[in-house]
Amino acid sequence: MAGYGSFGFLEGNRNLYFVKPTANLEPTGIEPDVPRNLNLSSYPFDAEAIKRDFPILRERVNGRPLVWLDNAATTQKPQSVIDRLKYFYEHENSNVHRAAHELAARATDAYESAREKVRRFVNASSTREIIFVRGATEGINLIAQSWGRRNIQKDDEIVITWLEHHANIVPWQMLCSEKGAKLRVAPVDDSGQVLLDEYEKLLGPKTRLVSITQVSNALGVITPAEKMIEIAHRYGATVLLDGAQSVSHMRVDVQALDCDFFVFSGHKVFGPTGIGVVYGKPEVLEYMPPWQGGGNMIQDVTFEKTSYQEPPQRFEAGTGNIADAVGLSAAIDYLDRVGMYNISKHEHELLVKATSELACIPGLHIIGTAKEKAGVLSFVLDGFRTEEVGDYLNQNGIAVRSGHHCAQPILRRFGLESTVRASLALYNTNEDIDRLVAAIWNLRLGRTSIS
Ligand code: ALA
Repeated sequence: MAGYGSFGFLEGNRNLYFVKPTANLEPTGIEPDVPRNLNLSSYPFDAEAIKRDFPILRERVNGRPLVWLDNAATTQKPQSVIDRLKYFYEHENSNVHRAAHELAARATDAYESAREKVRRFVNASSTREIIFVRGATEGINLIAQSWGRRNIQKDDEIVITWLEHHANIVPWQMLCSEKGAKLRVAPVDDSGQVLLDEYEKLLGPKTRLVSITQVSNALGVITPAEKMIEIAHRYGATVLLDGAQSVSHMRVDVQALDCDFFVFSGHKVFGPTGIGVVYGKPEVLEYMPPWQGGGNMIQDVTFEKTSYQEPPQRFEAGTGNIADAVGLSAAIDYLDRVGMYNISKHEHELLVKATSELACIPGLHIIGTAKEKAGVLSFVLDGFRTEEVGDYLNQNGIAVRSGHHCAQPILRRFGLESTVRASLALYNTNEDIDRLVAAIWNLRLGRTSIS
């Protein structure tokens, strides 16, 4: 994790080892022009107080208080994000960049402030490097169809890893089959970590692109992204880093990582669904053609010829998801206020506790035991199908995902079609972990309820 203390190490003795942050991680404040009462949590970190900021976490499911451990699928939204969306529709809603009226100015300010907020969140050097899309999947498809179609030719090679989500496999397969290029896959060891030597062996003069995840959605493994990017650049490859599962757990600095592209989804970082981000280095974006045509992305249109806007507008045809970009901005404010350092530290403590307690349950096997992990626990339980475990947890008010997690190749690497996945976020508490562990013990011991 570039320029930031890592909490990803799970040491054998389960002792915690915290690295001091190198940056000043004070909350950076909130925008002056949005609702003043953002109902933010106290600082320093207090998971119970943070949980109270997320109204859905007061729901009861099957008679029990909800424990949300499906954060890798989507995260819940703090009241401040919900309020910000409401405020936008009550006071600012308009299309952007076009009309000569007050609400257009308000909406444009809010939308472009959101772009600036995202820039700061990933430490890009300019808002021109930030493209709004629907989510990480659309971001990868944008890069495949725009950069990829222009730069990938017959016999070129694209390198990914076994850890990838389907969204970072399928677009490249489609491009390879269109262009006659080849997809190569870096293997992982039995802990789920990328084998760096094997990865480097795949690189060569034909490697045009390396597209890798920063955190595995299925196993929680944190890849050595900074090192992999540096190696890829030595071979002259362009690098896309998939941050869909990293941004809610750790501070991301695209300049320190030196990736050429970075993508993430708003809904996995406490923002709304339907909004996501592509970061691209300006020298890379500049030579990319548009991928969709329409309004907003043009400079001039005649029936004979169209000229296009500079990035990022060149890649934002049509009316964007304005309100949800503004909602994402409020989510980033929330994270700024809590502090990514505090979040990483808290989640690491929960991960260490959950890992050691789950590992004590007879017949429970954790899949993904790499030393560097974010807050994801993927496991199977001897004698129970993963759906049975998921159903039992749901009966007890605990939400996890069971299935292939849109990452079939990595599960098959471990001889599995499915795991149970509990994934953590800043609002999870020790009590949430206690309830998860108690429920699985009870399932194991044949009881029907944890109370
Ligand atoms: N990518 C999401 C997950 O891992 C949907 O569950």
